[in-house]
Amino acid sequence: MVSIADVARHAGVSPTTVSHALSGKRPVSAEAVARVKQAMKELGYVPSRSARNLARGRTQIIGLLIPDIANGFFAELARGVEEIAMDKEYNVLLAITGWDHEREMRCLEMIQSRAVDGIIYAAGAPPTESDLARVLGGIPVVLVDEDVPGVRVDSLVSDNHQGGQLAAMHLRDLGHAHAVVLTGPEGLESSNARVAGFLEVWEAAGLTATVEKGDFTEATGLAAVERHRTSFRDGAITAVFAANDLMALGALDALRDAGIGVPDEVSVIGFDDIGAARYARPRLTTVRQDVARLGRGAATALLERLTGLETGDPRRSVIPVELKVRETTAANRRTTGK
Ligand code: RIB
Repeated sequence: MVSIADVARHAGVSPTTVSHALSGKRPVSAEAVARVKQAMKELGYVPSRSARNLARGRTQIIGLLIPDIANGFFAELARGVEEIAMDKEYNVLLAITGWDHEREMRCLEMIQSRAVDGIIYAAGAPPTESDLARVLGGIPVVLVDEDVPGVRVDSLVSDNHQGGQLAAMHLRDLGHAHAVVLTGPEGLESSNARVAGFLEVWEAAGLTATVEKGDFTEATGLAAVERHRTSFRDGAITAVFAANDLMALGALDALRDAGIGVPDEVSVIGFDDIGAARYARPRLTTVRQDVARLGRGAATALLERLTGLETGDPRRSVIPVELKVRETTAANRRTTGK
């Protein structure tokens, strides 16, 4: 196999000159570059990708941090990232943080120390600005799905506030008057915005809500129904807005087990539109996030920074959401008589 040393010998230059001629990182005379190219041609030398990357100080690997791989939302997000990365000949190194702050910091440190070129970060337990700067150093980062307050890097998030409003308008227009609202884990901007948007519309219409702390898993949806079973049964509460689909699906399951009809007695709305929402029975009404656009957009933004195509101020993109009315919501029979 032909090596850089062979090329150097053949061209009558040092191996360092060959490396510099290949990487273009240090000035080499035009004459030396021409001799190196001629020697490479005559010897049939093709630099390996890793040698090329080494010379350019790149790994062609980007890190992706997500909180939960079992949640279809993040699996679809990863697919969007991977599609763009693959297209541009980058590999993706995945870390799963489990909504846990300590674990998230460790994953950031580990992924950074593996010499990735940049990181796409879907925060599940956002660190402070200075914590993030400490673990990442100067490595390029794009935030996706979740803003980290104070961190000035490119970010892409859904219009979570609008999503909460759409859910509330839908339930309000169906005549519901008291809803259980299930939040996501504490400190998440996305969940806070969904709940705030919902309550804004709901309270403006003079309606009442019981806000329950959730954690974005089916279990908290299930537990909330258990806690309010009597109120659901006697019609004091007729609606559930869950800040993600998994909690909505947990609530659906518990309502079915309790023999409470959906949507005849209780309406349920989720948030995300994961695959399972479309295949649940009844099919879940939900606020759809364009997750493929989030994933692809985050990867594109990062690669634009890495290749120098984008050098301006950080950009924040807010992606519109859409209400998908399916089978878990219906008019409140008690108020509308329908
Ligand atoms: O289902 C997981 C949730 O976590 C999604 O709604 C996503 O937006 C993130 O906030």
